[in-house]
Amino acid sequence: MSLKEKILTELILSKGEYCSGGQLAEKFGVSRTAIWKAIDQLKAQGCEIDAITNKGYLLKKIPDIYNQTYMQMLLEGTNWQVQHYEELDSTNRLAKELASQGAPDGTVVTADVQTAGRGRMGKSFHSPTGGLYMSVVIHPDLQLSAMMSITACTATAVHEALKKFGIETQIKWVNDLFLNHKKICGILSEGSFNAEMLKMDYLIIGIGINLHPDPHLPEELKPIVTDIETETGKHINKCELTAEILKQMRKYFLEIFDRTYLEVYTENSCTLGHRVRTDTGLEGIAESFTEEAGLCIRLDDGAEMLLNTGSAQIID
Ligand code: BTN
Repeated sequence: MSLKEKILTELILSKGEYCSGGQLAEKFGVSRTAIWKAIDQLKAQGCEIDAITNKGYLLKKIPDIYNQTYMQMLLEGTNWQVQHYEELDSTNRLAKELASQGAPDGTVVTADVQTAGRGRMGKSFHSPTGGLYMSVVIHPDLQLSAMMSITACTATAVHEALKKFGIETQIKWVNDLFLNHKKICGILSEGSFNAEMLKMDYLIIGIGINLHPDPHLPEELKPIVTDIETETGKHINKCELTAEILKQMRKYFLEIFDRTYLEVYTENSCTLGHRVRTDTGLEGIAESFTEEAGLCIRLDDGAEMLLNTGSAQIID
């Protein structure tokens, strides 16, 4: 941990009390000037720190910088264990590697930037600074047929978490979140199937959310992709959002057999009632969801079609 991170941790743990510069210097074995310089760096990164001579430093607002202590405080009483990286190729890739080496249920990998983010259908997922990228490892005791609901549960959990920060998203089947008709969040599930036991050994659920504008957003994505700040003007603290998503995921996973997610998922769907085109080119009206979040489409010839995987493009 850098001196800056150590000081930030200490300020967070002081919970509203001033920390004296002298005590911080003694604790970390550095000069008071080094403390003062690190405080300046924290301020430059957006920390609001009150400094009073003979009293010390007080953290007035938790900054939007990853801090393990703060994350642990937010996740107290849960079994989620977060590992954070400033940069990774893909949080899903690392989470999968860790899971294959025996990482327990509740392991979470987060990164500020991904250099090779993975999307659905083998596509890449553009992951610059300003996004939230996280992957969770779970060991679900579920039949394969129920796997689909895990992804829908996750979309519901992210929707509910964002709602706590005043952001009202819509869910596009099966697991994209939209804001003002543009995508702000994608979810990718990957896993390892145990053919002997006919169940999953582990499942990796990756979530990518665009929080802030990306000045280098590829031209072809501009009409279909947006971010929370552009649409709402809001700055959400990444640690707080990550923790809220994890709490909501746990809630919906525990209630998966009661299908509590389905009501929220249905109420906030932007797919139902619309004309959609399947990956195979069939068109019809998206009518309803099955109990496992499969999409029922009324085709133009009147036949009903059930989609359990893939995607359905909204065309009207
Ligand atoms: C999609 O919309 O195609 C799914 C995108 C999923 C992106 C997330 S970002 C965190 C995690 N790590 C990855 O490499 N991908 C997922």
